[in-house]
Amino acid sequence: MKEEKALKKLQVILRLETVERVKEALSAIGIGGATLMEVRGFGRQRGHTEIYRSQRMEVDFRSKMMLEIVMEEEKVDDAVKIILENARTGAVGDGKIFILPVENVIRIRTGESGREAL
Ligand SMILES: Nc1ncnc2c1ncn2[C@@H]1O[C@H](COP(=O)(O)OP(=O)(O)OP(=O)(O)O)[C@@H](O)[C@H]1O
Ligand SMILES: [Mg+2]
Repeated sequence: MKEEKALKKLQVILRLETVERVKEALSAIGIGGATLMEVRGFGRQRGHTEIYRSQRMEVDFRSKMMLEIVMEEEKVDDAVKIILENARTGAVGDGKIFILPVENVIRIRTGESGREAL
């Protein structure tokens, strides 16, 4: 079955200490489910808190949390706003939001697909 109304996945990389706040704040927009993963990653500073000039600087993977949520496209703007409000400290390493298209979702117990299945 083809899903005609768009679904998106938000892949949200967060600091360990902001996850709880973000999760609670997101309940305001009514999400059907979410997946939380412990990840390790680096961004522009390559895991360092100061920017070094050396070309030979090594990459340091930092512990982060990744929250994945599939939602209806029309909720995405509100979700992004809520995440920005609750995850931003202003210091480097606050994280990132990736927004991906989702082709379909199927609820295993019932066989429902698309929005019904969220
Ligand atoms: N381009 C990327 N691709 C995949 N994951 C990324 C990318 N950039 C950042 N991440 C993930 O997000 C985490 C946090 O990134 P971070 O907030 O440091 O990004 P940044 O671009 O360096 O921004 P800032 O300058 O605010 O630190 C990384 O540890 C990594 O897990
Ligand atoms: Mg960074």
